[in-house]
Amino acid sequence: MKKFHLVLFTLLCTPALAQPLKARIKIDIERQTGSIDKLIYGNFTEHLGRCIYGGIYDPKSPEANADGFRKDVVDATKNLGVSILRWPGGNFASGYHWEDGIGPREKRPHRKDLAWGDIETNEVGTDEWLKFSRATGAEPYICVNLGTGTLDEAKNWVEYCNSKTGLYYSDLRAKNGHPEPYKVKYWGLGNEIDGWWQMGHKNAEDYSKFALETAKIMKWSDDSIKLIASGTSNYTQDWPDWNRTVLNYLHDYIDYISLHHYSNNREKDHHKFMAVTTRVENSIKITEGLINEVRNKYKMQKPIYIAFDEYNVWYRAFNEQKLEEHYNLQDALVVALYLNVFVRNAHIVKMANMAQLVNVIAPMMVTNGKLWAQPIYYPLQLFAQNCVGKNLQTFVQCERYDAGDYKQIPYLDVTSVYNDKTQEVIVNVVNRHKDKGIETAIANEFGKWTGTAQVSEVYGNLDDENNDKEQKIKTTTKEINVTELGMNYVFPPHSFTQIKLKMK
Ligand code: AHR
Repeated sequence: MKKFHLVLFTLLCTPALAQPLKARIKIDIERQTGSIDKLIYGNFTEHLGRCIYGGIYDPKSPEANADGFRKDVVDATKNLGVSILRWPGGNFASGYHWEDGIGPREKRPHRKDLAWGDIETNEVGTDEWLKFSRATGAEPYICVNLGTGTLDEAKNWVEYCNSKTGLYYSDLRAKNGHPEPYKVKYWGLGNEIDGWWQMGHKNAEDYSKFALETAKIMKWSDDSIKLIASGTSNYTQDWPDWNRTVLNYLHDYIDYISLHHYSNNREKDHHKFMAVTTRVENSIKITEGLINEVRNKYKMQKPIYIAFDEYNVWYRAFNEQKLEEHYNLQDALVVALYLNVFVRNAHIVKMANMAQLVNVIAPMMVTNGKLWAQPIYYPLQLFAQNCVGKNLQTFVQCERYDAGDYKQIPYLDVTSVYNDKTQEVIVNVVNRHKDKGIETAIANEFGKWTGTAQVSEVYGNLDDENNDKEQKIKTTTKEINVTELGMNYVFPPHSFTQIKLKMK
């Protein structure tokens, strides 16, 4: 009898489980909300673990180019579409004295890095790193030391990188083999100074006063540079106060304020993890409000944008010195969710940097001398390669769920983008549901679609990882038929899908 009931139960339930949920999406290329800045597809290299030494730089490797940088890392960075690279930290930046890293290598000091406990040999310094950055095609973005550093150090670094010869530091650059200015445009005013873990941690007033004086002389040295203030990284209850103070002091000098965020699934709750970027989006909206408040107060014409210059999943390797996180498909979905947040808020988020590029909480790893891509590489690559143009306000109707403090989370997280140069529409969809596919009618509200749609999917088992021998998770592509006014698609459970459509 019991067995009979079990069979009956299974028979009744299985088709129901297999039934996909239903959803609707409407795309309208006239509903443009902001231009997507390609700088949102940035990355970050810190002197930490095997990111610089053994990651980007490994002169003994057969992969090394003439400058000691790994060609496979350079190529994978280009293939990833990295638009801007932040350096030298992170926490490392708050104790870094850049003059240690210039001139003859044999004379450069070895120092203990108090952020991560490693010995810094200074083999890679400003000239070397800028060579790497240029080789990848990414814009360099230097974060100055506002922890243990001085005003002069920051200003002199700008002079070293950007002034024409004829001044003390620019002549030093020429002497070191680079007469032409590097023209480094993006400069960060310190890293996470709001955090107790930072060397030279300060309260908002002290940071703002110091950053203001630094910003002034950096800009007086080169007024074409763009400055990024160190915004919130520490989401305690009153975190917006930090950003408000910083914006009030620095508004005349800064072009961006930064935000940082890392996600974790320590609770091992899939649906809660899939909702984590709700917090990220809130922090953007709150910071946008603060920017508006300050711009209104000072009657400002100049915009101030958000640079989300550190984000990723990071928890398994949190207390491990090298931060070598091994990612799975579930983490790749969270990365796609971050990117959807940045695209959806493209009007205000004008830069974002995944932390970090290689080996350290990274999309690519070098193991046994071989480079391989982690699952998180693929959504970032799809966004960077295809999502340029205008963000579109997108109508989405689907079932929602509650998970802990997160309420009414739609199972589908969707953005759509119109590339007016190629006349392509790109639809990015994360299906957050753990077990159910979602059968979706996608309607075109303006003009006509033509031809077939190219569908790229990042999908597999949630806990699938890659390694140096096997790529379980990667992008798969297929073509499907569309009509002029729409298409139907079943988004598989726990998947990221990008659909590229052509306008007639
Ligand atoms: O990316 C790792 C660390 O996370 C960075 O050094 C720091 O800025 C953040 O806390």
